[in-house]
Amino acid sequence: MKNNILTVGADLGNDAFKIIGPSKRELFIMNILAPWHERRIVQEDTRYPLNLLEVEVKNKNEYLGKYFVGGMAYNFNKGILKERTVADRHTGKANDTDTLIVLLTSIALSLLKPNTRKIHEKIVLGTMLPTEEYFKNNRESVSLLEQKLKGTHSVKFLNPIFNSIEVEFEIVGITVQPEGLCAINAIMYDDSGELLDEYERNYSERTILGFDVGALTSDITVIQNFELRTFFGIDKGTIDPLNRIIDYLKTEYKVTVPRHKLDNTIIRNEKLLIYGQEISNLHEICKQLIDYEGRQLVEEFTSKTAASGIQLPDIGLIILCGGGSLLFKEMIQKHLHRIPMIFSNNAVMLNAIGAWKNANKIKNEIHNNSALGFAAATMVD
Ligand SMILES: Nc1ncnc2c1ncn2[C@@H]1O[C@H](COP(=O)(O)OP(=O)(O)OP(=O)(O)O)[C@@H](O)[C@H]1O
Ligand SMILES: [Mg+2]
Repeated sequence: MKNNILTVGADLGNDAFKIIGPSKRELFIMNILAPWHERRIVQEDTRYPLNLLEVEVKNKNEYLGKYFVGGMAYNFNKGILKERTVADRHTGKANDTDTLIVLLTSIALSLLKPNTRKIHEKIVLGTMLPTEEYFKNNRESVSLLEQKLKGTHSVKFLNPIFNSIEVEFEIVGITVQPEGLCAINAIMYDDSGELLDEYERNYSERTILGFDVGALTSDITVIQNFELRTFFGIDKGTIDPLNRIIDYLKTEYKVTVPRHKLDNTIIRNEKLLIYGQEISNLHEICKQLIDYEGRQLVEEFTSKTAASGIQLPDIGLIILCGGGSLLFKEMIQKHLHRIPMIFSNNAVMLNAIGAWKNANKIKNEIHNNSALGFAAATMVD
């Protein structure tokens, strides 16, 4: 095997895909999909190419069709918007075709290079599944995902800004971990997967919990003496307060506000206008509902932690990550204040960075094995 295999890390988030490309470039793509259609445009707004993802996708030999992905799906969906909702909590990600389309598009995007019309690459992919899905039925989803992804895929970028680029990539190696574990790897290990001295020195005797709060699911990873001890998932995330706020707006104002729009309004502390009128006490209502759901999350965290044999005083460190750790930060701090905590300053990308490190490790193994294979072949000669 040649030495030109690239590394990609992908977090298949229910809310957004987080991708770390071969040169460690970070990409954030909303997990929304819509069928492609011809648009009537006079002048395209080309300031944000990431909002111009119109693609034609092939998974191995199966033609998956033409789609708008991410911001483009949000802007041009003609009412047919495919986004993950609470109903998808138990349908899983591994067997979901929409997830596959967004993933293949995101990987292709991370492989783009300037002034090249046809791109062919081999990659090793590091990725993850929600903890409960990962361990279900003897890891059947992990096998399914690996089986779907290993092989050659192609993505054609249809918007003129991309110059008809076609990306063909072969996934030659793949590593899948439970969500949340990747984030711990991102914090405690270096790029080649070795434990950082700082952690070895200061945390070897502590029980460390990774707590990844996502959009639909939250994932907990327990480590003792740097050995994995247990994992569990919680069916809660940022979608819970968001849905409550959407319900409130429906009841009080007779309007349906899309989740991603509301999400952006809250994060950016913006106004929400309905028929030109500002909803006056929106941020106050949001705070109440976020606090309420945050408390529920902490309660479930506490009881599930106890059920897995760990009492709160036994926890020496919690590493918090995922966008939800930012939304629920106050509540988590308030109710778990005695436990030492690290809130990552790159909370949203952390899982993807860990997946990239995992993939890097696999890539080095492939290289080493192929070097051994080469030595053996030469000796036989
Ligand atoms: N700066 C921020 N402040 C507050 N909340 C934020 C911030 N950034 C992101 N979020 C919240 O994080 C959520 C998305 O989190 P994240 O990207 O971890 O989810 P995901 O990985 O896509 O979902 P899942 O883990 O369920 O698959 C959004 O709903 C948003 O409300
Ligand atoms: Mg997540």
